[in-house]
Amino acid sequence: MQARIDSLALIEASVWHELQRACAEQDHAWHALALATAGNGGCADARTVVLREVDAAAGTLRIYTDARSAKVAQIGAQPLGTLLAWSPQLGWQLRLRVRLAVTTDGPEAASRWARLKLTPAAHDYLAPLPPGSPIDARFQPERASRAHFALISAQVLQFDWLELHADGHRRAGFGPDGAQWLQP
Ligand SMILES: Cc1cc2nc3c(=O)[nH]c(=O)nc-3n(C[C@H](O)[C@H](O)[C@H](O)COP(=O)(O)O)c2cc1C
Repeated sequence: MQARIDSLALIEASVWHELQRACAEQDHAWHALALATAGNGGCADARTVVLREVDAAAGTLRIYTDARSAKVAQIGAQPLGTLLAWSPQLGWQLRLRVRLAVTTDGPEAASRWARLKLTPAAHDYLAPLPPGSPIDARFQPERASRAHFALISAQVLQFDWLELHADGHRRAGFGPDGAQWLQP
């Protein structure tokens, strides 16, 4: 467990630094996060997603997905969501309240797809059927006639940081009104 940071401003900067590291390093515990959205019928939905891009200055994170996935429809109906991450190495849990937006067309999506389509990960966006569709066989080798790549942008509105530590747990909230220590 790393040395404890006492200043709220330094904790905030460290959180963004760790998110940037998590984006680049596949073995960082925050490389894969849980994205929670409002599901159908009032039941919360959640799934694992990979953190693809982090812009600390803008306070945004980006995730790639299939435009036909349930989460895209859910975001269309309710753009507020939560990203959840836990790092045993840091001893930090992070709960990011985010405003989500989906982009399927235009230069932002096109530039990412142009890079991605040259990699094995392109298969994820070329499935013939939408994610979650019932299928007869276990594997479906055919590709869709077109890619279904979508970019999810998450604007961080506020976040909750929790540190588990043998000397005492600590928690803090960070948002538009500033930072505040909280009872864990
Ligand atoms: C480690 C891991 C990483 C994943 N990364 C992504 C991802 O970056 N984007 C994505 O759409 N789905 C990703 N998935 C699959 C989702 O968890 C989920 O099964 C899929 O997107 C369908 O979710 P939905 O029906 O809620 O839209 C990942 C799953 C795992 C286990």
